[in-house]
Amino acid sequence: MGTTARDLFIAFDRSRRRSLRVQVEDGLREAIRSGRLRAGTAVPSTRALAADLEVTRKVIVEAYDQLVAEGYLVSRRGAGTVVNQAPQRRPRTRPSPTEPATVKVDFRPGRPDLQLFPRAAWARASRSAMRTLPTRDLAYDDPRGLPVLRGAIADYLARARGTRTDPESVIVCAGFSHGFDLVLGVLDARGHDWMAVEDPGYAGPRRQLAARGLRCDGVAVDGDGLRVDALRRTAARVVHVTPAHQSPTGVVLSAERRQQLITWAREVDGYVIEDDYDAEYRYDRRPVGALQGVAPDRVIYCGTTSKTLASGVRLGWLAVPPQLVDPIVAWRHLTDGSTSTILQATFAAFLAAGDLDRHLRRTRRIYRDRRDAVMTALRRWLPQATPSGVSAGQNVLVTLPAGINEQAVVQRALAIGVRVEPLADYRPRPARSDIPGMVLGYGSVPADKVDHGVRLLARAVDEAGAER
Ligand SMILES: Cc1ncc(COP(=O)(O)O)c(C=O)c1O
Repeated sequence: MGTTARDLFIAFDRSRRRSLRVQVEDGLREAIRSGRLRAGTAVPSTRALAADLEVTRKVIVEAYDQLVAEGYLVSRRGAGTVVNQAPQRRPRTRPSPTEPATVKVDFRPGRPDLQLFPRAAWARASRSAMRTLPTRDLAYDDPRGLPVLRGAIADYLARARGTRTDPESVIVCAGFSHGFDLVLGVLDARGHDWMAVEDPGYAGPRRQLAARGLRCDGVAVDGDGLRVDALRRTAARVVHVTPAHQSPTGVVLSAERRQQLITWAREVDGYVIEDDYDAEYRYDRRPVGALQGVAPDRVIYCGTTSKTLASGVRLGWLAVPPQLVDPIVAWRHLTDGSTSTILQATFAAFLAAGDLDRHLRRTRRIYRDRRDAVMTALRRWLPQATPSGVSAGQNVLVTLPAGINEQAVVQRALAIGVRVEPLADYRPRPARSDIPGMVLGYGSVPADKVDHGVRLLARAVDEAGAER
């Protein structure tokens, strides 16, 4: 027998600010996660649940659609909607092309070379941390992190990124996505349920917003970065941006746009979330300073070790406006408490020994050589492509002449052993008229493999064109 609305125990409160749809979604998600609703159980029809909860049917239809997209529910024609066999936590994305037997060259973006991880220096830092970490620091920590590390991060940021912060406003976390989630938790509770993201832009924030039931608008990016005039046309008062090296176009947010963005944040009493994910790698000019340095009261700065060291380290930091410190601390008490003190002490020792600077000096040369190899290979094998975002980071955006089918190229490339990411993955709503493109990450591709990879990619472009 199927369930009735009564069995679902959805905590439903009309006086709450959270939308009714989100409350229904949360209630069902919780019932499935906790095992109260088992795989295969039929949920009530949208009509029946709407009638029981006294809401419009649209509210229930949208909630079910979201849970189907996340993999919690499945809809079967004629059989209604049932709890999925293996509920998935991640929202469903486009089906991935078939995996080839061997990937010869992996140009997936956002991956530093893990072989370059400074194991010896890290082991030294770890030993030093174990020798010196006071016993009391093995207990629950200040949610912001160890003072010694916060001090070292504040110094590093001021020196390397031109930020203006102090150790009191630094919060150590498990990388960008965790820091962003902490910020979302606080801003959501303060009524920011609509945010803006770059278009094209990194998909992570979009997915995190969706998972929290928050809405977002994509705002166009041009040669100067985010278009603040377009941002003004949205209802958002918070925006996620990548000012130093826009993901994926690589554009630097111009001085004029920076000013406009800060003026906007002040006018709407909002915040700019600055994702400084790969700013340490800048090859052709002096480092571009962080936006946070211009307006520490309006910019929430996020840094990570995922591109410089390894994403498995799970370590990052926020530098937040002073008025957000206490709310984030309070929120963190309720969530993960704090970052491992052992990891923090190790990283503090790593920084104090100058090992991060040494590692950056070494890897900057290696990644610049790989970048140069990509540019040479593109000129040789894919002269019809236009590369951008080449002065920094570990990725390059390659746009192709209009009319080429981007998906076909990506799938063809994978079939012959080369992985790249389609530009469509960075678009909130891909349209047919979009310029075709691919994002190539060269971080983990040795320079001597680059030429072969780009040659195969050129073959994929040719073959995809021929299939049209
Ligand atoms: C634009 C951008 N921001 C942040 C991150 C890193 O996130 P995290 O620190 O959670 O690993 C990535 C990783 O690919 C990214 O591409």
